[in-house]
Amino acid sequence: MKKLLAFLFFCHVACSVKHSLILFITATSGVPDFPEFMVSIQVDEVQVGYCDSNIRTAETTQDWARKFMKDNPRQLEYYVKECYNTQHFFRATINSLMKLLNQTGGVHILQRMSGCEWDDETGEIRGFNQYGYDGEDFIALDLQMLTWIASKPQAFITKLRWDTDKARLEFNKNYFIHLCPDLLKKYVQYRKSFLQRTDLPSVSLLQKTPSSQVTCHATGFYPDRADLFWRKDGEELHEDVDKGEILPNHDGTFQMSVDLNISSIAPEDWKKYDCVFQMSGVKDVIITKLDKSVIRTNWVSPSGFPAGAVIGVVVGLLLLLLCITGLFIWRKKTNGFRPANTSDSEDSNSDPN
Ligand SMILES: *[C@@H]1O[C@H](CO)[C@@H](O)[C@H](O)[C@H]1NC(C)=O
Ligand SMILES: *[C@@H]1O[C@H](CO)[C@@H](O)[C@H](O)[C@H]1NC(C)=O
Repeated sequence: MKKLLAFLFFCHVACSVKHSLILFITATSGVPDFPEFMVSIQVDEVQVGYCDSNIRTAETTQDWARKFMKDNPRQLEYYVKECYNTQHFFRATINSLMKLLNQTGGVHILQRMSGCEWDDETGEIRGFNQYGYDGEDFIALDLQMLTWIASKPQAFITKLRWDTDKARLEFNKNYFIHLCPDLLKKYVQYRKSFLQRTDLPSVSLLQKTPSSQVTCHATGFYPDRADLFWRKDGEELHEDVDKGEILPNHDGTFQMSVDLNISSIAPEDWKKYDCVFQMSGVKDVIITKLDKSVIRTNWVSPSGFPAGAVIGVVVGLLLLLLCITGLFIWRKKTNGFRPANTSDSEDSNSDPN
């Protein structure tokens, strides 16, 4: 019995091959401080997109979907346009329903749940498009018969009206039987490759002042199953280290850092230390040796200039001196200052010098 339960549980997780792409649309009338129109797009029951009458654009709410829209800008354009067009259809529909049902005011809600399911094992596809009004089923599309079915007597007039719109019925058929499943398959495939990727980070050593701790910072890795630690002679260090949490970056990747207190490390022992980034399930590690020459810092010594800067300034002064001397000699010779691009100008000789 236990075995069977375990199998059923396992199967629920691993054998679940039914995918879905569903649009939930809600239009309201008479509800203050609430968008009159909202759309939520869900893939496998997770919201990936959203739009409403206040924001006036379509937003993506999952990293993979954001990336998908970036790679397929026309799809996003389509959603933005649809959001706008559907909004007008819903407003008109809710108004005509209120008239039809003798409702002069009050709060009314028109909802639509539409989309498709795809079983990636059997290939079976099912489309659906149904409306609810004031919290009850109202009308639904029969995709086989290509006709609307009134879920309650009050919806019958609407059914008769909508049945005359053959173009809309044909569009619905094409959308729910072809376009929607095609898009759903694309989304599932895209999400899979997006989530299965591994991005390795760039790792750098940072330090505020020569005496402060050295921070080993890794950024840009994906997924967040990773570890970053300091080693001495190849052994992970637990003392004198301060490990930070894994934090999300804006682009969906992650970053983390681990500090090493170097105050008690003798200069000749530095070479025994390194910082290791390891991604779970990935063999290669990124090793960064503790080495003064690779540490990045913004620190400038307050006492005296760094040698490089001194040499730079001296060379600069010498060049300036040469230029001034050269200019002086040149001006003596020509007895005038000629701007380079107006060498043929008559004015150049009128210089008081
Ligand atoms: C709406 O009112 C009209 C006339 O007042 C009536 O004939 C009709 O049956 C009503 N409809 C509903 C759905 O109540
Ligand atoms: C580093 O270690 C020294 C002593 O070993 C301690 O005095 C100091 O506070 C530590 N620095 C930090 C930032 O933890």
